[in-house]
Amino acid sequence: MKGIILAGGAGSRLYPLTLVASKQLQPVFDKPMVYYPLTTLIEGGIREFCLISTPQDLPRFQQLLGDGRQWGLNIEYREQARPAGIAQAFTIADSFIGSDAVTLILGDNIFYGGDIFQRAFADFHGGAAIFGYHVNDPERYGVVEFDAQGQAISIEEKPKNPRSNYAVPGLYIFDNEVVAVARALKPSARGELEITDVNLEYMRRGQLRVFRLGRGFAWLDAGTSSSLHEASAYVQTIEKRAGIKIGCPEEAAFRRGFLSLNDLEALTARIPQCEYRDYLLEVAAEARRLQNPSAA
Ligand code: TTP
Repeated sequence: MKGIILAGGAGSRLYPLTLVASKQLQPVFDKPMVYYPLTTLIEGGIREFCLISTPQDLPRFQQLLGDGRQWGLNIEYREQARPAGIAQAFTIADSFIGSDAVTLILGDNIFYGGDIFQRAFADFHGGAAIFGYHVNDPERYGVVEFDAQGQAISIEEKPKNPRSNYAVPGLYIFDNEVVAVARALKPSARGELEITDVNLEYMRRGQLRVFRLGRGFAWLDAGTSSSLHEASAYVQTIEKRAGIKIGCPEEAAFRRGFLSLNDLEALTARIPQCEYRDYLLEVAAEARRLQNPSAA
């Protein structure tokens, strides 16, 4: 399965932060925001990525992430000339998707907890898979309604009167048909190619699965100054308490087997002295101890 990270958009709600740096490059506690969605997909076993952003911001992402080889990945880049909708990602990235299935993650979505995405990628056999997460303010999102059997029966984009509290987070899995579905879309009243219309088309075909993300799972979106600050505070709290890092692509690539222990040690040696480096040294040392317990 291929992975698209959509990291364009206007970022107007983060003005003036976004005057000179894109939303998805802003810090969320100790790392750039885009590290979090990238890590979520690496943890799910995705190795081939296409990052889509604006013509102005794309060079900064290339500077940050390179071609991905340092982490055992392959990262391509594509421009979105203007923010014409999330579903446009599939036509922009059609040559990258080729004949594969694809998962799309929004560059400002931060997920933490459990292995539901890993399982959803591994169990994916066609159609579409999306998720539902209970939120306080569903009217800001696509909203999914379930019947008594837990079957999804409606999805509405930013409804004034939501039929449920279940919002659809920014991680979607589609079979290869999605390129044709996206190509056939008409812009909505707000002039965007809507991801909700893609999901509705799969629902109409009887090919949409919606998994509920339960309690104990965190979904944060960092699109406003308050939510950006809350996301930073959340990450700091968990990292300090547990002594682990959230959204660390080097660690995820190592644990997924995309990097060997030698690779991890070599790339850590090139990182300047900082807490991030100390953490990776600890991850590598722990792995060495496990490999060779008698030397401890
Ligand atoms: P939004 O947060 O809805 O939009 P935005 O980032 O433009 O922010 P604002 O409303 O403050 O102006 O977008 C959700 C995510 O999807 C975000 O990561 C940006 C991305 N996006 C694109 O890359 N291209 C698009 O055409 C759209 C609509 C969103």
